[in-house]
Amino acid sequence: MQSFTYWNPTRIHFGKGQIARISDEVPADARVLVLYGGGSVLKNGVMDQVRTALAGRAVFEFGGIEANPHFETLLNAAKLARAEKVDFLLSVGGGSVADGTKFVAAAALYDGDPWDILVERGRNVTAALPLGCVITLPATGSEMNRNAVITRASTQDKLPMNSVHVLPRFSVLDPETTFSLPPRQTANGVVDSFMHVLEQYLTYPVGAKVQDRFAEGLLLTILEDGPVALAEPTNYQARANLMWAATMALNDLIACGVPGDWATHRIGHELTGLYGLDHAATLAIVLPSLLTVKRAQKRGKLLQYAERVFGITTGDEEARIDAAIARTRAFFEAMGVRTRLADYGLDATAIPAVTEKLRQHWPVPLGEHRDVTPEAAAEILTLAL
Ligand code: NZQ
Ligand code: ZN
Repeated sequence: MQSFTYWNPTRIHFGKGQIARISDEVPADARVLVLYGGGSVLKNGVMDQVRTALAGRAVFEFGGIEANPHFETLLNAAKLARAEKVDFLLSVGGGSVADGTKFVAAAALYDGDPWDILVERGRNVTAALPLGCVITLPATGSEMNRNAVITRASTQDKLPMNSVHVLPRFSVLDPETTFSLPPRQTANGVVDSFMHVLEQYLTYPVGAKVQDRFAEGLLLTILEDGPVALAEPTNYQARANLMWAATMALNDLIACGVPGDWATHRIGHELTGLYGLDHAATLAIVLPSLLTVKRAQKRGKLLQYAERVFGITTGDEEARIDAAIARTRAFFEAMGVRTRLADYGLDATAIPAVTEKLRQHWPVPLGEHRDVTPEAAAEILTLAL
């Protein structure tokens, strides 16, 4: 196991009715900016609960944060935060709103060109407004991590940032808020959280038994309850297990002491930035091909994954690895997330722009072995046509 330091102070309020706890978390004299997306929280009753919990405070609202939140939109929110001298931000929505809120928290206190925050991946953030989250889509783990991913629409750059200053002070996870998710978003969340585990698990063995078995538990839970949530959108237990699994998948816990890959995510971000695909769709496209190309480097963990997650114990090693990759693809497809570029109307002509963006954004090759070069990404995407 590698050495690590783990610290995650986000307070979690989990369960039905927990939105009311916001009133304990946000100071009574706070000036609060509530941020939300395209309106789902206005329709499903979540915003009504938030407004009730914030009663008595000076509350401002900023709606219209897009899926894959736009830098341009968020600058307007940061301007409003400054103009109204807001001192607390509350994100109400999915990962895009949470990420957008994190960026606003940093940008509102940043003196230079705010795009530099993304160029520097958040390393230059020295302060941010305090923030909390009500998360309504289990997927990103943004509610308990220090990451945000922001898209500059004008240049089609989608870049991640990471700063301890934007860790949520608290997050509310009420599974009932996810009952209203359309099937596509339920499926996206399942695929995304599954992929977060794989990015930290499917690398090479370092003898980290706790992290491995924790990761396998999350994968098994998502495999089991993903289809249940699709079939029964108001099944509280399935929604609750998926919600907690998504948070635990990307709150740095299973990252402790193990290598991380993240090449699938970074290639995927370029596909979203350039062609507008849903985040989860990009992951479902890239991963099976990446595993095929990197099967030698990932051999030990692929065999472990095959056995412990899918129960594949027969056949030679190559056959077991093939079967594990096929089962993974089949799971994504069964959730309704297609796994080929052609399924999204893209062909080989889409690939050079992706490799060019990767070259611009990531001077060092990607992956746990730093061997996923732009050329390797092109090979992976060609296999995914
Ligand atoms: O905008 P509204 O109207 O709220 O509708 C949203 C949106 O259209 C809808 N939705 C959310 N909760 C709902 C709901 N509809 C009905 N009922 C509900 N309860 O779902 C749509 C998608 O929402 P979005 O927030 O974009 O989805 P998600 O949570 O999957 O977030 C995706 C974004 O997060 C980034 C992705 O790159 C992408 O930009 N990620 C963030 C990460 C992080 N912060 O650690 C890690 C991830 O790997 C990911 O990159
Ligand atoms: Zn993701």
